[in-house]
This record gives sequence, structure tokens and C-alpha cells, in this order.
Amino acid sequence: MSRSPNQDETRSAAHGRRRIFSGIQPSGSLHLGNYLGAIRQWVRRQDERSDEVESFICVVDLHAITLPQDPESLRRQTRELFALLIACGIDPERTTLFVQSHVRAHTEATWMLLCATPLGWLERMTQYKVKAQRQESVGAGLLTYPVLQAADILLYDAHEVPVGEDQKQHVELCRDVAQRFNHLYGETFVVPEPVIPQVGARIMGLDDPSAKMSKSDSAARGHAVLLTDPDAEIERAIKRAVTDSGNEIRFSDDPEKAGVDNLLSIYAAVTGRSRAECEADFADARGYGDLKKRVAEVVVDVVGPIRERAAELLRGDHRELDRLVALGAERAAAIAEPKLAQMRERLGFLPAPR
Ligand code: TYM
Repeated sequence: MSRSPNQDETRSAAHGRRRIFSGIQPSGSLHLGNYLGAIRQWVRRQDERSDEVESFICVVDLHAITLPQDPESLRRQTRELFALLIACGIDPERTTLFVQSHVRAHTEATWMLLCATPLGWLERMTQYKVKAQRQESVGAGLLTYPVLQAADILLYDAHEVPVGEDQKQHVELCRDVAQRFNHLYGETFVVPEPVIPQVGARIMGLDDPSAKMSKSDSAARGHAVLLTDPDAEIERAIKRAVTDSGNEIRFSDDPEKAGVDNLLSIYAAVTGRSRAECEADFADARGYGDLKKRVAEVVVDVVGPIRERAAELLRGDHRELDRLVALGAERAAAIAEPKLAQMRERLGFLPAPR
């Protein structure tokens, strides 16, 4: 009977470095929730010692087609997202930043993992249930989506998967799939851990603080702060954010105060200040107007430079961007292909004729 490798064994399996893997969809525009819940953690991990961590960040275009996409928009959004990630601080020389569909191993590995995944595991996924409810007809890809995500992670022997709160269940499913495959076919995969930030893991909509800020709703005015929004738009959205009829500026679990709690959480995540420090910062405030003004200022300070750097990268013929896309694809394939070969061998496929 096979067993899961322990952390030291898996560390050496990945050449002594902790592997970090995460992904993001090029559907809709990047928003502050994506940045505070996920991207900022990726940049922090990348900036740690390069002999200790090795990062992989994937623009998951195959995931984006689980819901119908306009091909021209998908192409544009994929390029824009790649540029925005660089603008946020992902350095394509240090992090393997790549587009999922460029590495064919992801789709092939998905099929192999699907065959080892019980249907009931997929039917239980919260995001599937929510998204399926919104659709008139549900594509099979929407159901099998988390197995593609598992393939993404497992092909790279990732130890850690930094994500926002909403992706935790998918990473847990990935662990189950890895363990099951290891059990059925022998030790093949590292079993990864989800890593959720303490602050900013679930940023809520400005127009409705009971629903998470999301790309699919971000077209609605006043729902999200997009990383491409001009300063005036950011200020307007935050100024209009839904709050309550009181005037107390404090963190709270009370659903009535969810709007203020969300604004304070954004402030805490952006400034890196503790909850007590944040509340103290607003002890003399004269109501929610002051809170919103200050939150807008700190958000503009982080989003402004990101927006401008991305616009610079997207100007002209994209030659530099295309070079980086190709570099990422080559580096990612160099890791994913041998892993796929190992999966094929474990499953008993004849070696492919050359
Ligand atoms: P996606 O594209 O929906 O979101 C990208 C990342 O942003 C986080 N996030 C948030 N964090 C805080 N507050 C919010 N309101 C908020 N909205 C989104 C998400 O948790 C996520 O970390 N299935 C994934 C992409 C994926 C992936 C992977 C992730 C594909 N393969 C492998 C990790 C590993 C998704 O749709 O994320």
C-alpha cells in the first residue's frame, strides 16, 4: 500500500525548493479582491529567497471557457491579465508565469485524473452548484472544472497553493484527487496545501457587502474596484459603497455592518495595519464619509501604479509581452511534461512512438 510523502521528501522531490502554484482566470477584469486575496501573496512569496521557493503562476484560459466566451475578448483579456500580473509585481524572470493552454500536458493530465475522481466529489462543489444554478444549460466542463485545477497544481509538484477563501474547497478536492491517484497507482504527486491570507481573503462587493466581489459581476457599476479603473472611478465607487445608517467605524460580524467591515478590511489589507490600529485610525472620524475618503486614498495609491504599468506593457506591438508569454510556456512545459510522462507510465500506457 502506498503512503503520502512527508514534507521533507516532497521538498527534495522538487529539487530542494518549496513550490508555489496558483492560477487566475482571464474572464472579466481583475479587481481588488483578486489582488488582495491572491496576487499580493504571490508577489510576496516570489520575493522570498529564490533558493527556497519557486513560483508558478498560470493564466487559466482553459478554465475561462467553461462558460461561453467571445473569442476576441478572451484573446484580449488573456494578454491584459498577463500584463496586469507583471504590473502587480510578478517578475516573469523569477516566477514561471504562463498561459495554461500553451502547456498541453494540462488537458491530458485532466483526463487521467478525471478517471480517478468520483462524480459525487464534483457534484458537491459549492461553486459548481452556484454557477450551474445561473445557467440555462450546464456544460460538462463546469462540473469537471476542479479536476483541471487539480491537474494544474499536481503537474508542478506544488507544495503550496495561495488563494482567496473561495478557492479553498477546490484545493481540498485537489488533495483528495492526489491522494486517491497515489493510492491507486503508486506515489506520484505531492499533496498540496491551500494557503489563505489572514486579511483580504474575502473582499465583498461594494454595492452588496453580502456577496463577494467577483469578476462576473464586475461589469455592474459600483460593484468592484478594477485594477484598470481611473482614480476618479475608484473614488466614486468607494464613495457610493453600501454602509448602514449608524456611524460606528469598527470591524463587526453583524450582517448589518457588513459594508463598514468590508471597507475596514480593505483598509487593513492595503495598509498592512492590525485591526486595532485600523480602528484607532478612525477614532476621530466624523462618520462614514471620512472612512470612505481615506480608504479611497490608500486604494488609489496601490491601484494607480499598477494600472499605469499595465497600460505601458500593452502599448504598441506587444513584442516584449509575447516574448515573456513564450518564455513562460517553455519553462512550464519543461516541468509539466516529465510529470505527465510519469503519470502515463503509472497508468500503464505504452510509451508513445517517437
Ligand atoms: P479566480 O480567477 O476566480 O480568482 C483568482 C484568485 O483571486 C481570489 N479571489 C478573491 N480573493 C478575495 N476576495 C475576493 N472577492 C476574491 N475573488 C477572487 C481567488 O480566491 C483566487 O485565488 N479556479 C481558480 C483559478 C485556478 C487556480 C488553479 C487557482 C485555476 N487553476 C490552480 C489555484 C491553483 C479561479 O477561478 O480563480
